[in-house]
Amino acid sequence: MNEQKKIRVLIAEDDFLAGEMIKSLLGELGYEVVGKAVNGRQAIEMTQSLRPDLVLMDIKMPDMDGIAATREIQVVQPTPVVMLTAYETEELAAQASAAGAGAYVVKPPDGRTLQRAIIIALARFADMAALRRSNARLEKTLVELQAAQEKLMQQERLAAVGQLAAGIAHEYNNMMAGIILYADLMLRGDNLSAKDRERLAVIQEQGQRAADLTQKILDFAAESILHRQNLDANHFLRGIQTQLARTLPENIRLHLTCPADEVIIFADPDRLRQVVINLTLNAREAMPQGGNLYVALQCLHVTDGADAPLPEMDAGDWAVITVADNGVGIAPEALPHIFEPFFTTRAPLGSGLGLAQVYGIVRQHKGYIDVSTELGKGTTFFLFFPSLEIKT
Ligand SMILES: Nc1ncnc2c1ncn2[C@@H]1O[C@H](COP(=O)(O)OP(=O)(O)OP(=O)(O)O)[C@@H](O)[C@H]1O
Ligand SMILES: [Mg+2]
Repeated sequence: MNEQKKIRVLIAEDDFLAGEMIKSLLGELGYEVVGKAVNGRQAIEMTQSLRPDLVLMDIKMPDMDGIAATREIQVVQPTPVVMLTAYETEELAAQASAAGAGAYVVKPPDGRTLQRAIIIALARFADMAALRRSNARLEKTLVELQAAQEKLMQQERLAAVGQLAAGIAHEYNNMMAGIILYADLMLRGDNLSAKDRERLAVIQEQGQRAADLTQKILDFAAESILHRQNLDANHFLRGIQTQLARTLPENIRLHLTCPADEVIIFADPDRLRQVVINLTLNAREAMPQGGNLYVALQCLHVTDGADAPLPEMDAGDWAVITVADNGVGIAPEALPHIFEPFFTTRAPLGSGLGLAQVYGIVRQHKGYIDVSTELGKGTTFFLFFPSLEIKT
């Protein structure tokens, strides 16, 4: 049998004569004996070094018995095992099976019995291996499912908060526009005392701050009025480079990398500028000791779902803007919340609206956002915008 590829067997048997007898029986049956161990410990070592297809394991051996050795082999070098036993009891059979042996034979076995036991042990081992593989696949799928579910819940949560916030923001927007307008009209009057002028200026300034806050909330809720146009993201980023550099202290270096060609997206330049500025400000806060800020633009072609950086992205051309810092990174417990409005780890200085605004603006442009971060190493935000044809 098995002329093409002989099954390689390791014998673990402390009794020399019994071992020799089994060796010759195996030879007659067409198996290749790769070695002989005389105790459990040696059986484990030889299984690891010789990697046999099967181990014939005596139950009673000095140093470490066959049951314990089989159990350890299933951990360090999983291999089919046939147990050799001097007598047969139910308890022994149960112990052998629990340790991972696929079959057992009573000594001295005849050729047919031994061959049957070997075939059963090999088949059971193959079944177990297949089961383990499908279990591993199942576990992986479960982890992926859980991650997708968490992401969906996060998106739903943001959408619900956004709806509520947008309702309030619309009302406030109108009221603030009225307050600012009337303060402005009054300031134009001639017969105002210096004190009143000062007070009106405060009303105007505070009104403007409230209007800015309202704008952030409208941005987050993806309810801003957009002035979208065909915009070369390349030209756009080069254009705001100086403005970005001005927001950074001297110990942070800005590196801008853009491709040679135009990359056209359909975007509102003011809102897009706000996005990049917010990310730059966050990077600045993340690098109090200084560091490097990398802003880059790339083109990405997605053929189908399989090569999309995010599963929800459609096939087609995308412009990818990345903003990367080598700052403090984001803690795993904070990460699921960073896009939520008013989530901040920098209170009272931060309002927690920067990333919420970025999120909403990107979504309103039919884009996607992703983040990768490592504590102490830095953070990269990826912005994906649908890209139009490249102008020539
Ligand atoms: N580049 C970054 N590195 C490390 N942490 C960041 C980074 N960007 C955002 N974060 C974390 O996400 C939180 C939320 O950011 P977000 O911009 O929304 O609010 P903020 O910066 O705290 O306040 P605001 O932007 O309103 O002034 C931050 O408080 C910070 O913990
Ligand atoms: Mg911020």
